[in-house]
Amino acid sequence: MSSAQYGVRGQTAVITLDNPPVNGLGAALRAGIVESLERALADVAVRAVVITGSPRAFSGGADVKEFGTPKSGMEPSLPTVIRVLETSTKPVIAAVAGVCMGGGLELALGAHFRVARRDAQIALPEVKLGLLPGAGGTQRLPRLIGLEAALNLIVTGDTVPAARFEGTPLFDLLVDTDVLDAALSFADQVVAENRPLQRVRDRQVQEPQAEAFLAFARNTVAATAKHFPAPLKCVDAVAASVAQPFDEGLRVEREAFLALMNTPESRALRHVFQAERAAAKIPDVPADTPLRKIAKVGVIGAGTMGGGITMNFINVGIPVVLLETRQEALDRGLATIRRNYENSMKKGKLTQAQLDERLARVTPTLGYEALRDVDLVIEAVFEDMGVKETVFKTLDDVVKPGAILASNTSALDLDQIAAFTRRPQDVIGLHFFSPANVMRLLEVVRGARTAPDVLATCMQLAKQIKKVAVVSGVCDGFIGNRMLARYGAAANQLVHQGALPQQVDGALQTFGLAMGPFRMGDLAGLDIGWAGRKRRQAANPQAYTRIVADALCEAGRFGQKTGAGWYRYEPGRRDPIPDPAVETLIADFRREKGITPRRIDDDEVVERCIYALVNEGARILEEGIAARASDIDIVYLNGYGFPLHRGGPMLYADMVGLPNVVRSLRRFAAEPGADPSWQPAPLLVKLAEEGKTFN
Ligand code: NAI
Repeated sequence: MSSAQYGVRGQTAVITLDNPPVNGLGAALRAGIVESLERALADVAVRAVVITGSPRAFSGGADVKEFGTPKSGMEPSLPTVIRVLETSTKPVIAAVAGVCMGGGLELALGAHFRVARRDAQIALPEVKLGLLPGAGGTQRLPRLIGLEAALNLIVTGDTVPAARFEGTPLFDLLVDTDVLDAALSFADQVVAENRPLQRVRDRQVQEPQAEAFLAFARNTVAATAKHFPAPLKCVDAVAASVAQPFDEGLRVEREAFLALMNTPESRALRHVFQAERAAAKIPDVPADTPLRKIAKVGVIGAGTMGGGITMNFINVGIPVVLLETRQEALDRGLATIRRNYENSMKKGKLTQAQLDERLARVTPTLGYEALRDVDLVIEAVFEDMGVKETVFKTLDDVVKPGAILASNTSALDLDQIAAFTRRPQDVIGLHFFSPANVMRLLEVVRGARTAPDVLATCMQLAKQIKKVAVVSGVCDGFIGNRMLARYGAAANQLVHQGALPQQVDGALQTFGLAMGPFRMGDLAGLDIGWAGRKRRQAANPQAYTRIVADALCEAGRFGQKTGAGWYRYEPGRRDPIPDPAVETLIADFRREKGITPRRIDDDEVVERCIYALVNEGARILEEGIAARASDIDIVYLNGYGFPLHRGGPMLYADMVGLPNVVRSLRRFAAEPGADPSWQPAPLLVKLAEEGKTFN
C-alpha cells in the first residue's frame, strides 16, 4: 500500500512520501498527504510541517500508470492536495532531494518554504508527454523564477539542478548535506522568528517586457513544435500568470491541460513512454535473471554494419576485436570508423583525445585466435547462409564456453544458424539498423533454443549502448522488415494502378513519415531487391510476376548510387527530382500489363500503405513473433522513421478504429486479382468485433 508516513520530530511534523521508486503521486499517496496534514494541524504540539521524500526522489510527479484511469482524477486530486498545503495555517516546508519533477515540483511549490539539495533534479517534463503542468506549475513557477526562466523549463521539459536557482525565491535554502536535517532546523527558525507564511499565489510575476517576450516565445515555439500542440499551450498558460489573477490563471491552465489530455499527439507520446518501458520486459524471463558479463566483444566483418556496430561498444568503453578476411577490408573498415569520429569532432561533439581513446579500444585481426576470450561475438558478414555456416562453425571451435554468439542477419533463419554450433542456447540475433552507430533500434532475435540469460544479457547490453531493444521471434524479416515488405508491395501496387512515385512519397511524408518508400528505395539501392526477385524467379519461374521496379532496374536505375532510380539526382546531390523518363517507364509497364490507370487520392495512398503495415503487424502478434503491439510501434518509430506524433502503426490503427481498418482491408481484398495478404488478419477481425484495441 503506497502512502505517506507520518512522524513528529520535536515540534515539527514530518510527512514522508513513500511510494517507491520515485514517489509517483498516485491516489493513495495523495490521500495520505492530506490525512497526514490534517493530523499535523490537529496536534497542538506541532508548530510546523516538513514534507519530504527519499534521498533518491522527492517525487517524480504523476503516477503515469494511473493516466486515463478513474484513479487519476480521484479526489483528493493533485490540485486539491496543493491547495490544502498552501492554505495550511501552520508553516509547510518542502525538503527536496533527488528527483523533483512534474507534479512533484508543483507539490513543492504549494509549500510555504522550500529547502533543497543543490544536486536535486528539477523539471516540469509534462510537455514531453504532450501535456503541460496541470497543477499550478505554469502559474506558480513564473512567480518565483520569472517569465523567461519558467517558460524555458516548461516548454523544453529539461531537467536542471536545483543549484541553478540559487538566489531566486524558488528555494529558501540550498544545501549539500542531509536535506531533512536542514529542513528541520529551518522549520525551527521559522517558528522561532514567527515568520509569515509565504504563499506563492500571493506573489506577482516580475517582467516589465512580458508582452514582447511572450510574442517572441510564441513565434519561436510555433516554428519548432511542428506536429505537437502542447508547447504553444504551455506559452498560453504561462502568459495567463502575467495577465490574469491567480485563480483565473489556474482555470486557464486546467482547461488547456484537459484539452491536451484528449489530443491524439499526447496519447501517442504517453503510449511511447510506456511502450519503451514495456519493451524491456520479456514475459517469461524474470527481471532478476542473472546476467553474463560482457567485458570484451568480437565483431566479424568490417563492412557497412560491422563498423557501426563496433562504434557502439567502443563508445561506452567496451573493447572490440574486429575480424576480417583481408587486410584491405580491415583497413577500409577502420578508416570509415575514423572518418565518422572525425566528422563528430568537426561538429564539436568529440575531442581528439576521446577519438584516440576510442580507436585504441579496437584490436583489428585477420585470425580467429584473437577471439578466444571475448564474451560476445557479433557476426556481420555477407548475407549468405554458406558464409554464416563457416563463421559459426569456426566460432564454435574457438570462442570460450559461455560466450554469446550473435548474428546481425536481416532475414536468414536464426535457428538454422544456431544449429551450426554445439551451443544453440548461446546463439541469438542482434539485428542493428543502418547506420548502426546512429539508429536507436535493435531487434533482439530470440531463437527456439536461445537461453533466457542470453536474452536478458543482450537486453541489458542494449541499454548500455543506448539502444532501444525489442524482442522478435524468428521469421522472414523479423518484425520490421517483414512488415516493410507488405508496405513496399502496397506502394508498388499503387504505382501499377495509377499513382506516381512522387505522389505516394508525398502523401506518406505529409502523413509524417521521414521518407516515402520510393525515396527510401533510391537511398538503399534498388538492385538489392532486384537480385532477390531474380533469385526467386530462377527458382520458381511460374510463380513470379514482374513488377515495375524490375523495369527500372533493367534500365540501370539502381537509385542514388547510379544517379537515377524512382527519381533522378544531380551529381553529388541527394534531393530527388521527379523524372519524366520514369513516367514513361511506368506507362509502358501498365500498357504491357493491360492496366488502365485510375485516379488515386492521397488518403487512399496512406490507407493502403499504413494498413498493410498494420495487417502484417497483427499477424506478427498472432504468431507470437512480437510479445505486444506496443513493441511493434517501438520498432517502427525507432527503425523506420514512423512519425512520433502518430505513436506507431498499431496505435494509429487503434485511433482510427479497428472496425474501420478491417472494412478497408476487406474492400482491398475483394478487388479482382488482389493479393491474398489484403485479407484482414484473424486477430484484427477478432479485436474489431469485440470492440477492443491493440494497445
Ligand atoms: P558488407 O558487404 O558491407 O560487409 C560485409 C563484410 O564482411 C565485408 O567487409 C566482408 O569482407 C566481410 N566478410 C565476408 N565474409 C567474411 C568472413 N568469412 N569472415 C570475416 N569477414 C567476412 O555487408 P553489410 O551491409 O555490413 O551486411 C552485413 C550483415 O548485416 C548481413 O547479414 C546483412 O544482412 C546484415 N544487415 C545489413 C544491413 C544494411 O543496411 N546494410 C542492416 C541490417 C543488417
